[in-house]
Amino acid sequence: MSKVKTKYVCQNCGYSSVRWSGKCPDCDNWNTLVEEIQNTGGDKRKSSLQNVKISNGSYKLISEIDSVNESRTLTHISELDRVLGGGIVDSSVILIGGDPGIGKSTLMLQLAEKIEGKKILYVSGEESAAQIKLRSDRLNYDLGNFYILSETNLDNIQAVIEREVPDIVIVDSVQTIFRPEIESAPGTVSQLRESTALLMYLAKKNDFSVFIVGHITKDGMIAGPKVLEHMVDVVMQFEGERTHSFRILRGIKNRFGSTNEIGIFEMTDLGLKEVINPSEVFLSQRNYGASGCVISSSVEGTRPILIEVQALVTSSNYGIPQRTSMGFDYKKLNIIVAVLEKKLGIFLNKSDIFLNIAGGVKIEEPATDLAVAMSIYSSFRDIPVDSETVLLGEIGLSGEVRTISYAERRITEAAKLGFKKIIIPKGNLKNINAKKFKAEIIGVEKINDAIDKLF
Ligand code: TYD
Ligand code: MG
Repeated sequence: MSKVKTKYVCQNCGYSSVRWSGKCPDCDNWNTLVEEIQNTGGDKRKSSLQNVKISNGSYKLISEIDSVNESRTLTHISELDRVLGGGIVDSSVILIGGDPGIGKSTLMLQLAEKIEGKKILYVSGEESAAQIKLRSDRLNYDLGNFYILSETNLDNIQAVIEREVPDIVIVDSVQTIFRPEIESAPGTVSQLRESTALLMYLAKKNDFSVFIVGHITKDGMIAGPKVLEHMVDVVMQFEGERTHSFRILRGIKNRFGSTNEIGIFEMTDLGLKEVINPSEVFLSQRNYGASGCVISSSVEGTRPILIEVQALVTSSNYGIPQRTSMGFDYKKLNIIVAVLEKKLGIFLNKSDIFLNIAGGVKIEEPATDLAVAMSIYSSFRDIPVDSETVLLGEIGLSGEVRTISYAERRITEAAKLGFKKIIIPKGNLKNINAKKFKAEIIGVEKINDAIDKLF
C-alpha cells in the first residue's frame, strides 16, 4: 500500500512545505500552516511536455486580433453596477468577500430578484433550499427563473450546470464546496484554488458569469486570499460594522473597470437598500450646536461623503488618560493630540478623549485630520463649532494644514448640501475657483489659523 503523502500549506498565502512550523516563512503569519494531502498524480507535466505541438494561430500580433466589445448585463442594483464598472461582464468570475453575517447572501438574492431575463443557479453550501425560500418569501421576492441547488460536491454542481445551462451561477460559499479528487478538506487552500479554477473553466467554456461568495478570515483577508484574488476577474469586498446598518461594497480588483468605486447600502428589515445620497444619510442625525461635533468630508472611492466627527474630552480619573477612537486611526489620533498640545499650548494629558465617526463609517484618508483636531478642541473648550461649516485638511507634525486630494469634489458636495463656510488648506485654494461656489471658501495654513477662524 502506498503511503499517503502530506504537506503543510499556509492557509493565507499558499506557501507549502514538508515540515510544519508555527510561523509561515513566506508571509510571516502565525499558525496558518495546515496539513493537506498531497496529490500524487505522477509527473504529468513532464510527459505532456514531450508531445507539445503549437498550432498555427495559437499566438498572433495584437493588431491581428479582432476587437470585441465586452457585453454586459445590468443587475439593476445601481450601487452594485457601479462597483462592477457598469454591470456584469459576460462569462466573468466575480469574487465577493466579507465577514460572516454582513449580507453577502442577501445581496446575491437581491441580485437574482432585480436582474432581468436571466436564468440563475444559486448553489448553496450553507443554507438549505427551504431556508433560502423562506428568506425570499419574507422579502416578498418574485423569483422566476431561479434554481436553488443545495450541494457542495463540485462534480454534482458541474453536472447541474451542464444540464441547465444557466446565465449566472452564484456559489455561496466557496469555503463549503469541494472537488472530491482533491483529498484536502473543504475550505483549505488546495480546495479553494482547485474549486475556483474549475468554476472559472466552466464559466468560460459554458459562457456564464459566476459570483463566488467567500468568507473573510479574522485578519480581514479572503481565506487563501492571494491564491484566489489573482485568478478571478473581479474582487469585491462587503464591509461594515455588524452593529451599524450601513454596508460598503468596495472594488478591490476589476479587470473591466476602475477599483475606485464603492457602493453604499443600508441593511433594513426588507433586505439591503441602496443609499443613493450618502451624505444626507450620514448627516441625518447630526447634533446641531453641540460642542465637539464638526463636519468633514471623506472621499470613498471617487465619491465625497460628508460625515460628522464627534469628540468628547472629559477630565480623567486615572493616572493615564484614556484615548478611544471609533472609525478613525488610533495612532493618528495620538499624533493629532500631540500636535494640539504642542502648537496650541493646551494640556490634554489630564483628559480622556473619545473620538467617534458617526454612522459607523471608517476613515482611511488624511483629509479629515483638521476636523478631528477641531472637534477635540471644541469639546475641550466646550465651545461649539458653527454648524454650517465644513473642515478639510491633513495635519502635519509641525501643525501645518497640508493639501488634500479631491478638494474640489468635496467642496462641491458640501456646497450642494447647503453648507455656508468651508475651511480648506491654503495650498488647495489656488487651484480652486472659489467664486464658483455659493459657500465661502477659506484657506488656512496652520492649525492656529483654523482656531482663529472658528472660535
Ligand atoms: P446574510 O446575507 O445571511 O449574511 P452573509 O451571507 O454575509 O453571512 O445576512 C445576514 C444578516 O443580515 C442577518 O444577521 C440578518 C440581516 N438581515 C436583515 O437585517 N434584514 C434582512 O432583510 C435580511 C435578509 C437579513
Ligand atoms: Mg451567507
